[in-house]
Amino acid sequence: MKRRTAILISGGGSNMEALIRSMTAGHPAQPVLVVSNRPGAGGLDRAARLGVPTAIVDHRPYGEDRAAFESKLDAVLSDVAPDILCLAGFMRVLTPDFVRKWQGRMLNIHPSLLPKYRGLHTHARALAAGDSEHGCTVHEVTAELDDGPILGQARLSILPDDTAESLAARVLVQEHRLYPIVLRRFADGQRSPVLLDAD
Ligand code: GRF
Repeated sequence: MKRRTAILISGGGSNMEALIRSMTAGHPAQPVLVVSNRPGAGGLDRAARLGVPTAIVDHRPYGEDRAAFESKLDAVLSDVAPDILCLAGFMRVLTPDFVRKWQGRMLNIHPSLLPKYRGLHTHARALAAGDSEHGCTVHEVTAELDDGPILGQARLSILPDDTAESLAARVLVQEHRLYPIVLRRFADGQRSPVLLDAD
């Protein structure tokens, strides 16, 4: 039985597209829904072009009431009964209650070699720290932000002339490699981390 997979986005959805394109006939997972918290997210058009149903749960009407936003999100998700949630550029912090309900079935991709650089502006922070390497991580989502069990990482060397933009672009290429590999393993029940080296 294919694992029904919903993907949550807030923006362009390039990771979402990589995931959807990877779920071909023999894949243990299938995309059942793409949900965005932002009505104008470019990823919604991408998903529609790829033939995947989409939904919008705009977080703005709920203000700071995260629980109310999440109960709407939950209702939309339960309509498609996903087995796996993939956060892919989803920029809302989820409450512990929501996470607890999905823990063990929810993945996220983060643009750093966790546990380094949780949170935002990871590329600029790695450059400012003078790091020699950087990369991305797919992890299980837990109540702690960017902190759950690591399921995969891709690493690359930081180049002398790298800027935050050039580094982000090179890391994004690795995200599109890593996330589909991890999702396939996860859908097959594998939990040991995969480590990719981009150099
Ligand atoms: C990616 O850099 C991802 O690591 C981060 O947000 C960005 C989303 O890109 N979570 P996209 O929407 O998948 O193109």
